[in-house]
Amino acid sequence: MQLSDSMLAIEISEPGAPDVLKPVSVAVPVPGHGQIIVRLAYAGVNRPDALQRAGLYAPPPSASPLPGLEGAGTVVETGPGVTRWKIGDKVCALFPGGAYAEYAACHESHALPIPQGLSLREAACLPETCFTVWSNIVMRGGLKAGERFLVHGGTSGIGTTAIQIARALGARVFATAGSPEKAKACEGIGAERGINYRDEDFVAIVKEAGGADLILDMVGGPYLPRNVKALADDGRLVQIAFLQGPKVELNFGEVMMRRLTITGSTLRPQSDQAKARIAAAVEAYVWPMVASGSFKVIIDSEFPLKDAPAAHWRMESSGHIGKIVLKVE
Ligand SMILES: NC(=O)c1ccc[n+]([C@@H]2O[C@H](COP(=O)([O-])OP(=O)(O)OC[C@H]3O[C@@H](n4cnc5c(N)ncnc54)[C@H](OP(=O)(O)O)[C@@H]3O)[C@@H](O)[C@H]2O)c1
Repeated sequence: MQLSDSMLAIEISEPGAPDVLKPVSVAVPVPGHGQIIVRLAYAGVNRPDALQRAGLYAPPPSASPLPGLEGAGTVVETGPGVTRWKIGDKVCALFPGGAYAEYAACHESHALPIPQGLSLREAACLPETCFTVWSNIVMRGGLKAGERFLVHGGTSGIGTTAIQIARALGARVFATAGSPEKAKACEGIGAERGINYRDEDFVAIVKEAGGADLILDMVGGPYLPRNVKALADDGRLVQIAFLQGPKVELNFGEVMMRRLTITGSTLRPQSDQAKARIAAAVEAYVWPMVASGSFKVIIDSEFPLKDAPAAHWRMESSGHIGKIVLKVE
């Protein structure tokens, strides 16, 4: 297929507020070994994009400097060594960057088929959150049926994904969020208890239920010692971000005496092989949840690609419930 040489993309013109996102014309990427080029129909917006835009999350050296970690569309070119995909296939994919654009490149093993019954719009919102949630709550956190699971930021893209996956695994889910409406929304998608952290103490509520076997946290800061208190004996805390900072004073005596595990990870800097292993697990375990309807994509709002600043203002407002998506085509 003959692609045009240039494409519309959104660049971060300088670190700063959402208005630094500017439409530009740049060269269409060329696929490297094992890579595919996807003509994007939609791209998902994630908080790491906002952190990158603000100058707080640099892309790995080999990644596109353009923002955008996930999207869905059509394969239009395949690089040497590609075996799974052919031109014309519809896929959704995890990108190392560059998905706020008409075309983006990713490793073929980071692309997945569109789950049965889903639109490209819905599928575009899955990869970054599903890869992050599955790798952290199951592969790293070892969540099992019957365990008590607490997720903070319950109505975030990550939170709505974590609630539904944990519920589908048979866990008892507790979720915090910043308003009564958001706490209710968490219960609407499978949380046994949505906790409005502005009025309620998540430590007391979770302890009352027996303590959390696993906590997925993105807040950090003052939540760190509170999370340790909320854990059951032998509980695990998995940290995926520090919206309120990574530094606190913590009594590790409790970690030792109650056999707690504190760990964490970030997805983007991991190797292609590690991401391929996560992709395979997501396809094997999460895609059937999507196909059966036990996992639904919750979309808060949609913006045209050129209105990426408005999409980021929406995210920065924290008023959203679920995912924000950019329409590319
Ligand atoms: N480690 C990884 O690989 C990885 C991958 C993807 C995402 N993440 C992280 O996971 C988090 C969620 O990502 P997302 O894309 O789902 O974001 P999102 O939809 O924007 O959700 C973030 C939520 O956090 C809450 N929040 C925002 N600022 C906060 C603050 N200063 N203190 C406490 N809570 C705050 C807000 O909910 P309330 O208003 O209800 O408090 C907001 O809805 C982000 O921190 C992101 O960086 C990590």
